[in-house]
Amino acid sequence: MPKSTLETDRIRLQRFSRRDNTTYDEAARASLHELNQWLPWARLDYEHGDTTAFIRESMQAWKEDRAWDYSIRLKDDPDRHVGSVSLWTVSKLGKIAEFGYWVRTDEHSKGICTEAVDRLLEEAFNSLGYHKVTLRIAVGNHASDRVAEKLGFTREGVLREELLIRGNWIDHSLWSLLDREFRAIRRGEMRGSR
Ligand SMILES: CC(C)(COP(=O)(O)OP(=O)(O)OC[C@H]1O[C@@H](n2cnc3c(N)ncnc32)[C@H](O)[C@@H]1OP(=O)(O)O)[C@@H](O)C(=O)NCCC(=O)NCCS
Repeated sequence: MPKSTLETDRIRLQRFSRRDNTTYDEAARASLHELNQWLPWARLDYEHGDTTAFIRESMQAWKEDRAWDYSIRLKDDPDRHVGSVSLWTVSKLGKIAEFGYWVRTDEHSKGICTEAVDRLLEEAFNSLGYHKVTLRIAVGNHASDRVAEKLGFTREGVLREELLIRGNWIDHSLWSLLDREFRAIRRGEMRGSR
């Protein structure tokens, strides 16, 4: 199981609790217009009950060792949810995990997502022993592609019509990073494109 709190100089990733209900709800609603394009749960009629259900499910998944969602916080404004980053196992045998993320719209392009994912990658490879981490990114989601590129992920290919968003089937690009690649990037022997 990953640690319930992870930190960098600027941000803290923390496991969700019921106390996060109000700030998560505000962040999700303030960002719905954009999230709605890429994330099936982000319907334009998203309501408070959806937040309550998400937090309940997130706490349960953590307890059952199924999936680990973190609230991203800026250390200089720690009560405000600025985004989420999540990790779950897709293959026990293959030691493969998948990541998901979003950041509130008014905090975009400040490097927050890249920094949060980078910190969680360290946990995934160094503490949890995964061999490979994957991202599934809707084709056309260029900001998310850029996060993957900056972290040194490789685009493996396209999975056709994987995601149903607002009645349309969307292709997913599959990106991956291997443990040895992560370590080489950390040692400065290989580069992400940051
Ligand atoms: C994808 C997302 C999480 C990125 O969060 P973020 O904190 O802004 O990410 P970062 O600042 O670390 O990096 C974003 C990069 O994308 C770039 N970018 C932003 N919009 C872009 C666009 N339309 N086209 C190309 N690049 C874009 C930024 O300039 C930045 O790159 P840079 O550092 O080289 O300048 C955020 O855009 C988001 O929440 N989107 C909606 C939900 C979503 O798509 N989630 C991912 C599903 S796979």
